[in-house]
Amino acid sequence: MCGIVGYTGKDDAVSVLTSGLKRLEYRGYDSSGIAVNNENKITMVKASGEINNLVEKLGEKTIVGCAGIGHTRWATHGAPTDINAHPHLSNSGRFAIVHNGIIENYIELKEELAGKGFNFESETDTEVVVHLLEYYYEGDVRKALMKTVSRLEGSYALGVVCSEFPKSVFAAKLGSPLIIGVGVGENFFASDVTALISKTKNIIYIEDGEFAEITPDEIDVFDCTGKSVKKSVSRVVWDIEAAEKGGYEHFMLKEIMEQPKALKSTIEPNIKDNKIHFEGLEPLGEKIKDINKIIITACGSAYHAGYVGKFVIEELCRISVEVDLASELRYRNPIIDEKTLVVVISQSGETADTIAAMKECKERGATVLSVVNVVGSTIAKLSDYVIYTWAGPEIAVATSKGYTTQLAVMNMLALWLGDHLNKIEETEYNELIEAIRSIPERAQRSLDLNAQMADFVKNYSHYDSVFYIGRNIDYAICMEGSLKLKEISYVHSEAYAAGELKHGTIALVDENSLVVAPCCQESLFDKMMSNIKEVKARGANVLAVALENNHKIYEEADNVISIPETHPMFVSVAEIIPLQLFSYYIAKEKGCNIDKPKNLAKSVTVE
Ligand code: G6P
Repeated sequence: MCGIVGYTGKDDAVSVLTSGLKRLEYRGYDSSGIAVNNENKITMVKASGEINNLVEKLGEKTIVGCAGIGHTRWATHGAPTDINAHPHLSNSGRFAIVHNGIIENYIELKEELAGKGFNFESETDTEVVVHLLEYYYEGDVRKALMKTVSRLEGSYALGVVCSEFPKSVFAAKLGSPLIIGVGVGENFFASDVTALISKTKNIIYIEDGEFAEITPDEIDVFDCTGKSVKKSVSRVVWDIEAAEKGGYEHFMLKEIMEQPKALKSTIEPNIKDNKIHFEGLEPLGEKIKDINKIIITACGSAYHAGYVGKFVIEELCRISVEVDLASELRYRNPIIDEKTLVVVISQSGETADTIAAMKECKERGATVLSVVNVVGSTIAKLSDYVIYTWAGPEIAVATSKGYTTQLAVMNMLALWLGDHLNKIEETEYNELIEAIRSIPERAQRSLDLNAQMADFVKNYSHYDSVFYIGRNIDYAICMEGSLKLKEISYVHSEAYAAGELKHGTIALVDENSLVVAPCCQESLFDKMMSNIKEVKARGANVLAVALENNHKIYEEADNVISIPETHPMFVSVAEIIPLQLFSYYIAKEKGCNIDKPKNLAKSVTVE
């Protein structure tokens, strides 16, 4: 969703801002714009559609200036038009601002400001902010900004320029992501590290409620009383190559292929002396004996990873695990107390619903453990404990390595919890840890299917309805496989627990249906064979995913994708990879915009 970037230094602000915005494209957007401060005059250019439209418009003008702000907008309040695009300019032209988040009380503020004579141009919630700034301005931008945000309800990451301070850019954060990039003779801010990685690896993470005034040589972070806050500079561990396609046609394929490496980076540092060891989690290891329930909450694919987590944790720890969509959990009255462990899963660490659900759980006394990919993100900061997935930056909107590294953590967490609860015998533990160690290699072997997948999917690209059916972990994999297909290829698909089909959905199954049936749980194989027979009897074409030594499956399935022999409890990673590839090549066959599917955003920072 919306991305913001700010720059002040010695270089041409237009080119720094547009290249930063291009790196934020992956977040999802439908218009963009920049405002540059030059000799006490702000010049603003905005365009609906792709950033290239903005670049084209910019090419028609000469905009000189070394400080400015930029924005990619994912429309919420008002259509994706040029006028609604950010930045927004105050009536006097003194201020321009960009905003990520939602101003919930904008209607009242708009009425108030209109009553004071301010003229509104857009339909956005954001525009009230720039008029408030103008209203409160008495020569001190910092004071005006502090007063302005004290009037706002909702969430924001704000970037501000003021014509009277041509070298400064200002920022404020509450509930939406914002980081500062530290350069030499130049400084930056942005929604995330990806926008800045080609310029600097030195980052200051600012907290909710903090502000910043940034000039080429100075960064002053201050609180709501105006008092400076001492901040440390962190170094980003990944390189620019991680955020580039590196010869692949799409980021998604690159990220799919990077999974063995990402899994290795996520698993290996957490195994010491043949035991799972999560650094910093020791106090939780003690506390876990008092926990009587685990709730896993997340959105999208992270929720699907949580579903796998439920199966493995319940199996190994014999403790009850509920999996809840964050958008549902936050609006019910969940039974949560000090004896509940809440596991929050999020690649970005910035998903608005997940953050809200987590806050709700904390208020009720739960201990919160998060599984997050982005260091310094809001969820990581608000949790009691964090386990990082080390997937590196994920640019394609549809997650792949972000998700499988979450699966790896779920598997490791189950083993770690089971060990701390004394539920696992030594021999079994040793067998399971070996299985976890082998996940990256099994992932690599699943990826070997890539060579034939492009041709293979040609048999399937004409289907416009696909059902994914499975049981237990296989069912959790169906949810993710089905989501992958629909989000990037726009093919209608649904995931069903195989036993549930006959309670209604089988009415839709006929000779025009493709049924994808992962069957990697040996103990449930016979049940799956019966379900496959049921859909075959209605004419469906069945594509199974099975372990390589399973020959029986060929008796019923029309076609089989074989994956490497793996411990059934930890098969999820090897099992989802062919389904990621399947969706990718179907989408490619259909000519879809794979890295940036329509209507979707990578990081859903609004409700
Ligand atoms: C969006 C992304 C999904 C992701 C979900 C949750 O919908 O497109 O790929 O699974 O958000 O995001 P999170 O960053 O919290 O894992």
